Amino acid sequence: MSVLVTGGAGYIGSHMVWELLDQGEEVVVLDRLSTGFDWAVAGGAQLVVGDIADQELVEDLIRTHDVDAIIHFAGSIIVPESVADPLGYYLNNTVKSRSLIESAIRCGVKHFIFSSTAAVYGSPEQFLVNEDTSLQPESPYGTSKLMTELMLRDCAAAHDFEFTALRYFNVSGADPDQRTGQSTKGATHLIKVACEAATGKRDHMDVFGTDYDTPDGTCIRDYVHVSDLVNAHYLALRRLRAGGGSLVANCGYGRGYSVLEVIDAVKAVSQTEFEVRVVDRRPGDAVAIVAQAERCRSELGWQPRYDDLRTIVSHALQWEAKLSRRNRQ
Ligand code: UFG
Repeated sequence: MSVLVTGGAGYIGSHMVWELLDQGEEVVVLDRLSTGFDWAVAGGAQLVVGDIADQELVEDLIRTHDVDAIIHFAGSIIVPESVADPLGYYLNNTVKSRSLIESAIRCGVKHFIFSSTAAVYGSPEQFLVNEDTSLQPESPYGTSKLMTELMLRDCAAAHDFEFTALRYFNVSGADPDQRTGQSTKGATHLIKVACEAATGKRDHMDVFGTDYDTPDGTCIRDYVHVSDLVNAHYLALRRLRAGGGSLVANCGYGRGYSVLEVIDAVKAVSQTEFEVRVVDRRPGDAVAIVAQAERCRSELGWQPRYDDLRTIVSHALQWEAKLSRRNRQ
């Protein structure tokens, strides 16, 4: 019996593979390596390079490896890119997910875990959101993920098939043992960008707006350590296997930090100074969004281990330094 991880060569997927191996699972990774790296896949897992919409390949993998669960990360993740290329996002995130779900159902895979996003809420009126907050995605990215959630819901009603959709807040940090981390080129995420500035890979960084209605004028987010996030997926897998039924749950810590607080943390932990320029607001940014994550704790028994901004930053910085050494070799 094994677990199929799509997108397992990417940032979150590569952490998931380590978590599964640490828990004694057999793992097969399917990744077309468009943004991921073959070296990011743990040696104990088998990497198959290919597309999730190649049904012949996927169904052959499911049968050959006796796959009982799919954890689906593969997809496109950049919000502004989705605004410029909506059809590309609906293809990668919605159409190809449909194909993968169909393969799963056809082959009798009963457990499916999906990487959803806080972007399904758009810009909420109340900054704290629970799973019943109205769903008003403001980008094709958020809509493309929500459409997949809805397909899963309907398939779970129609077939012998159950799913967990985890709505991620701001995933950050790196494996505490530094076996993997965020290696994406041209990253746009705040903690990654700030760590690149702290390690001299950028000569400065920008803050997108300081005139928001928040205590220091910058946007507020809930930063969740990637290792805690993938552990939630493992707990979701166990729950599905035990017959726990389908579930949609937020995955965040329930605490928000402003952009300036994050930058201060990166400067403090790295003990470096770097130039920070204030520029215009970035289109599409929600002012503040923070998870109410009780469901994740009560339904999955999730007990985060790295719920501390400085710990997240410290792991991200260590990974950035390791990446620099690796790229120099
Ligand atoms: N920011 C800066 N400078 C930067 C990068 C980011 O000021 O160089 C600010 C952004 O304007 C925003 C905050 O830092 O206010 C966080 O931005 P990120 O790009 O790190 O993350 P987002 O909150 O925009 O997006 C994340 C995920 C998305 C997901 C979304 C859900 O990256 O995939 O959360 O809320 F959809």
